Amino acid sequence: MALSSVTNVIRTKLDVRTFSPKEVSWEDKLAILDAARMAGSGMNSQHWRFILIDKKEDLQKLADISLTGRWVSGSNFAVVVLTDSRYAWHLLDAGRAITNMMLEAWSRGIVSCICTGYNEEALRSWLKIPQPYAIAGFIGFGYPVKRIIGKKNRLPLEQVAFHGKFGEPIKRQRS
Ligand SMILES: Cc1cc2nc3c(=O)[nH]c(=O)nc-3n(C[C@H](O)[C@H](O)[C@H](O)COP(=O)(O)O)c2cc1C
Repeated sequence: MALSSVTNVIRTKLDVRTFSPKEVSWEDKLAILDAARMAGSGMNSQHWRFILIDKKEDLQKLADISLTGRWVSGSNFAVVVLTDSRYAWHLLDAGRAITNMMLEAWSRGIVSCICTGYNEEALRSWLKIPQPYAIAGFIGFGYPVKRIIGKKNRLPLEQVAFHGKFGEPIKRQRS
């Protein structure tokens, strides 16, 4: 049976940190942001907010503030993801919105990577982010330099999924 396009995107998508200088269209940028808006959130609270950064000098500034995402300077644009920290589940909601954006981008041939290491106070002050918004991270997007043919490095299913109780093995075939 043919795999659905969603399955295909989930299975092939890799995080990529080097980008070509090719411009991403405004329509694609909006479609990626809209994919975030479509994410579910606890009690449908929709508390996330997204800041699009797409000026070359701003991407460089983001890289300078970052500790583990200096590669963002080479991206075409970035999205900073904010959540309302008063909701206990706010970071779970951030993860759903971020995943939507990254999968939407991949399905359009646009690669991305997330960064969660940065000088938070510097980022907050530069982007004028008010309390109680937490900064969940930022994602850099762009076209790849070359065709990405990678293999995911993941633990086997049997190691991460159990059947019925923790530690009970899951079988590949139904008995
Ligand atoms: C919560 C989270 C935080 C991450 N933070 C960073 C980061 O700060 N910098 C970075 O370069 N990659 C970061 N990554 C990317 C991971 O290194 C990457 O998802 C992982 O190596 C799997 O990559 P793959 O899907 O290409 O196999 C982060 C990923 C997650 C899910």
